[in-house]
Amino acid sequence: MGQRPPNFEPSHRGAAPSIAEQLQQRAKNIEAAGQDILYLQVGQPSTGAPDGCLDAIQEASQHGTLGYTGAAGIPALRQRISRQYAELYNADVDPDRIVITFGASGAMILALVGCFDVGQRVALPQPFYYGYRYAMSTLGVECVPFETSIENGFQPTIADLEAIDEPIDGLIVASPGNPTGSMIHPEQLKELAVYCEKKAIRFISDEIYHGIVFEDDFPPATACSYSAEAIVVNSFSKYYSMAGWRLGWMVIPDYLVTPISGLAHNLYLCPPVPAQIGATHALDCRTELDQHVERYRRNRDILLNRLPGMGFDRFAAPHGAFYLYCHVKHLAEDSVDFCIDMLENAHVLAAPGSDFCPLSGQHYIRFSYAGSTDQIEAAADRIGEWRQQH
Ligand SMILES: Cc1ncc(COP(=O)(O)O)c(C=O)c1O
Repeated sequence: MGQRPPNFEPSHRGAAPSIAEQLQQRAKNIEAAGQDILYLQVGQPSTGAPDGCLDAIQEASQHGTLGYTGAAGIPALRQRISRQYAELYNADVDPDRIVITFGASGAMILALVGCFDVGQRVALPQPFYYGYRYAMSTLGVECVPFETSIENGFQPTIADLEAIDEPIDGLIVASPGNPTGSMIHPEQLKELAVYCEKKAIRFISDEIYHGIVFEDDFPPATACSYSAEAIVVNSFSKYYSMAGWRLGWMVIPDYLVTPISGLAHNLYLCPPVPAQIGATHALDCRTELDQHVERYRRNRDILLNRLPGMGFDRFAAPHGAFYLYCHVKHLAEDSVDFCIDMLENAHVLAAPGSDFCPLSGQHYIRFSYAGSTDQIEAAADRIGEWRQQH
């Protein structure tokens, strides 16, 4: 094969090396050699979509073509989500302000393209869900990572925002957060949303882990209740256990509905239709889905009971989601090396913090406890034995 002309090289805007991907490949190689691995690095439910959802899709596929829908999604789903805002949060959200998307990832791309021009600055509290940083650089929006403190559960405060040296145009928060599972209290969420509205900073609240919350001290609260300018991003990937169905939604101010639906239409026509039909029914499956949340709570408690005795004794309080973000500086110089050591010798894979935090990620690792309780028990046994050898 001859040499490729330079303009056939992959573009620079999209290149983003993922440490997690590289470690996953390493784990697969060990597995191929006959050693089983416990995967605690993946941030997805180990269960499938709820039953009601599957029945509805089968029924719909027998009676219709499942062809394109409007770019903002089917009215039945938008209305059902609107009702959920009333029931869960006592919030009045017009279905016309709800746009159905390709997961929270798709919602965030629409928010970034629909609200910011190239070069505008969007702040991201560290540590963060790494996809957003790469989405911003791909789309030409400047990502402004800023520091938070473990004492505040790595969630941003107004003081943290005011310490950013140049003005910002947007802020993304996630509560419960990834990689920490920590939460912003409703009063603080309100303070942040109101502050941002006053300062003309677009407030984007990623509420993808709503529903997976373990503490009564954090009653359900959505940014839509506090600011008409806020953008809320949500998804069926986590609480609804439908990660591969690629469906999410966003709540946007009414004047953004036409431009953002137009963008959605031009970029991908409409969100996946079988998933939209299933999701409409998944919203009624809370009894089944709450059982998963109980399992996550049990798994979290196993880790909280057992890990501190093994040296993992400093982390942000995990109020929700299914993550524990542990400080490991006293155990290793670098969290990537630490994860490799744990993979090769304990046969447990965790995610190094470096993907989530350029500032101090080398001192942290993230455990995901979305798996079965047996898996979490077994992982704790293996890690315990491995730590004893040190
Ligand atoms: C905080 C956060 N936001 C967004 C996403 C993307 O989710 P989706 O599957 O809905 O695209 C994830 C995925 O892990 C996440 O953790």
